[in-house]
Amino acid sequence: MINDKKVLFSGMQATGNLTLGNYLGALKNWVTLCDEYECFYSVVDMHSITVRQDPATLRKRSRELLMIYIAAGIDPEKNCLYYQSHVPGHAELAWILNCFTYMGELNRMTQFKDKAAKHADNINAGLFTYPVLMAADILLYQADVVPVGIDQMQHLELTRDIAERFNNIYGDVFTIPEAYVGKVGAKIMSLQDPSKKMSKSDENPNASIYLMDDPDTIMRKCKRAVTDSEGVVLYRDEQPGVKNLIDIYSACSGKTPDEVVREFDGRGYGELKMAVGESVVSVLKPLQERHAELAKDKAYIDRIIKDNAEKATYYSNKTLSKVKRKIGYPDKIR
Ligand code: TYM
Repeated sequence: MINDKKVLFSGMQATGNLTLGNYLGALKNWVTLCDEYECFYSVVDMHSITVRQDPATLRKRSRELLMIYIAAGIDPEKNCLYYQSHVPGHAELAWILNCFTYMGELNRMTQFKDKAAKHADNINAGLFTYPVLMAADILLYQADVVPVGIDQMQHLELTRDIAERFNNIYGDVFTIPEAYVGKVGAKIMSLQDPSKKMSKSDENPNASIYLMDDPDTIMRKCKRAVTDSEGVVLYRDEQPGVKNLIDIYSACSGKTPDEVVREFDGRGYGELKMAVGESVVSVLKPLQERHAELAKDKAYIDRIIKDNAEKATYYSNKTLSKVKRKIGYPDKIR
C-alpha cells in the first residue's frame, strides 16, 4: 500500500508504433484504474534492447510513448510515469530474481519462442531472461494489480511463481500480484489475419491501426479488414474477422458484443466496418490532439521525467533494501 491505496504497475515497450491493440488491451484500462490505485506506468526501454534498436529512434519513441500515456488521460502529477532505465533498481532486482528462476521455466515462455524464431540471428541472453526483468518491474513496487493484454498472462504467472518461491524462503517480502485483463479488447487481432494478434512489429501496415493514424487511414484499414463469406454479423469463433471487428467496436463504444450483434441484425459487413472505423476515430482523435499539444511543451515533459524518476527510485529502493538484507548482501558502511 502507498498512501492507503493499493499499488498498480504496468509498462509498454517503445518499439514500433503503438497499435489499437496496445490501447484497447492495456492503456485504456490504465486510465480507468488510475484514480483507484497508486500507479506506476513505465516506458520499459530496458526491455526494448532485447531486440536490436536504432538508438536515435528508441530515444524518440520512448519520449513519444510517455506523452501518449499522458495524452490518453493519465495525470503525470498523480501517477508515476517514468523510464525504466532511469531507475537502477530494475536491473538490480532482475539480477537477484535471475537466481530464483529456472531455465526450464524460461524455456516454456511462448513469447521467447516467438521472438527467437523472428530474430534467429540475435537470440541473446536478455531475450531469454526478459520475463525475469518483467517480474522485477512488478515486484519492485509491491504491485497488487497489473493491467495487461492476454499475451502477457504467461509472464504474469511466472512473476507470481518467482515471488512465491522467494517468499517461501525469506518470509513475506513481495506482494503477489494479480493480472487485470479487461472484459473486451484483451486480445485485438490483426485486421489482415484474424488468427494473429495485432502487433507493432507486423510488416503489413494494413494489419494494424496505429494510434497516430489519421481518420482516412483508419477508415481505409477498417474497410479492408478481412472478414468471411457468411454475410451475417455474429459474435462467434467461426467468424474470427467479424468477431474481432465487434470486439474493437465494443471496446471503443462501450456497448457489449451482444448489443453490437443486435444493432447489426440484418445489416452487412460494409456497415459494420464503417461503424468500427468511426468509433476508432472518435477514440483516437482526442488522444492525437492532446499528444500534439504536449509535444510543444518540452520543459513540462522534462520536469515530469525527472520528478517521476525520483519518485520511482524512492519506492523501488524501499523494496530493494529489504531484499538485499534478506538475501545476505553485506550492509553498506555509511
Ligand atoms: P507490449 O509493449 O508488447 O504491449 C503493451 C501492452 O499492450 C498489450 N497488447 C495487446 N492487448 C490486446 N490486443 C493486442 N493485440 C495487444 N498487443 C499488445 C500487452 O498485453 C501489454 O499489456 N512485456 C511487456 C511490457 C512490460 C510489462 C512489464 C507489462 C515490461 N514489464 C511489467 C506489465 C508489467 C510488453 O512487451 O508489452
